[in-house]
Amino acid sequence: MSEIINLKGRNLVEPNDFTLQELDSIFDLADKILADPASYQEVGKGKLLATLFYEPSTRTRFSFEAAMLRLGGQLIGFDNPDFSSVSKGESLVDTIRTVACYADLGVIRHPREGTAKLVSKGLSNFEMPIINAGDGGHEHPTQTLTDLMTIRHEKGTCNNLTIGLCGDLLFGRTVHSLIKALKRYEGNKFVLISPKELKLPDSVKDLLDDDDYIETDNLDDVIDDLDILYMTRVQRERFVNEEEYLRLKDYFVLDNKKLQNARDDMLILHPLPRNEEIAEEVDVDPRAKYFTQARYGMFVRMALIMKLLGLENA
Ligand code: CP
Repeated sequence: MSEIINLKGRNLVEPNDFTLQELDSIFDLADKILADPASYQEVGKGKLLATLFYEPSTRTRFSFEAAMLRLGGQLIGFDNPDFSSVSKGESLVDTIRTVACYADLGVIRHPREGTAKLVSKGLSNFEMPIINAGDGGHEHPTQTLTDLMTIRHEKGTCNNLTIGLCGDLLFGRTVHSLIKALKRYEGNKFVLISPKELKLPDSVKDLLDDDDYIETDNLDDVIDDLDILYMTRVQRERFVNEEEYLRLKDYFVLDNKKLQNARDDMLILHPLPRNEEIAEEVDVDPRAKYFTQARYGMFVRMALIMKLLGLENA
């Protein structure tokens, strides 16, 4: 039997907080849970997960909550901070320190970039690990776990792929985290498809070598080269100017006509929520895997919870 890789007590703030070997150990555990969920339905008994959402969420919050409940654990938390003592002026760090007095593991989403890092530093004298569930336009590492697990399952590898990332590459935190993660695997190439106003920020692009990527604003020109097309929503909530958002929101719309030139085995992924950037007619295309991706997200979060709480041997 292979040695269990211990991640007990670790935080997940940025996608590269774990080595590739540590990531593989999470995916291997997620695969085991996926194959036999009934064997894991009591491993989290007596454990408490706190979900602290300062920004709206459907998938991330519900998949974490479903994951903890399916492990036999329990939940506390809020998705509206107005109902907590934040409304009385309590600082974010004090709020999380207080939660750490009650819960075994915390998950936080916040609109401000860097919040999860700030909170993890504030918790240095507390035992509760913290997971970043999205900080502004910065990072979304558990979406990256979801994306990598989907790619591993559907492509059989995370190496030597040509990945098209299409839409709002400026504000799309899932894109930033996914590029950083896939860059660590071998032989991947990135096709960055966006209007010029929503190009990938230099802070992420600078991590890539010049021959690792191309940039274009024309999806039709590149779709036939792609192993994966990762579509993203234009992030209305991060725009200062509503007119600019309205001008750009439908810049790319993936429909059956556009897919005619794509490979038969190209994966279509999307972190969701979707607006108009993928026509509903595409949902029945066998290449469309975005709801499968959302389902994998629950299993990989079950594995992550088990790892951070040291429940793998339980
Ligand atoms: N993918 C994702 O983060 O979705 P939610 O905003 O619904 O959590």
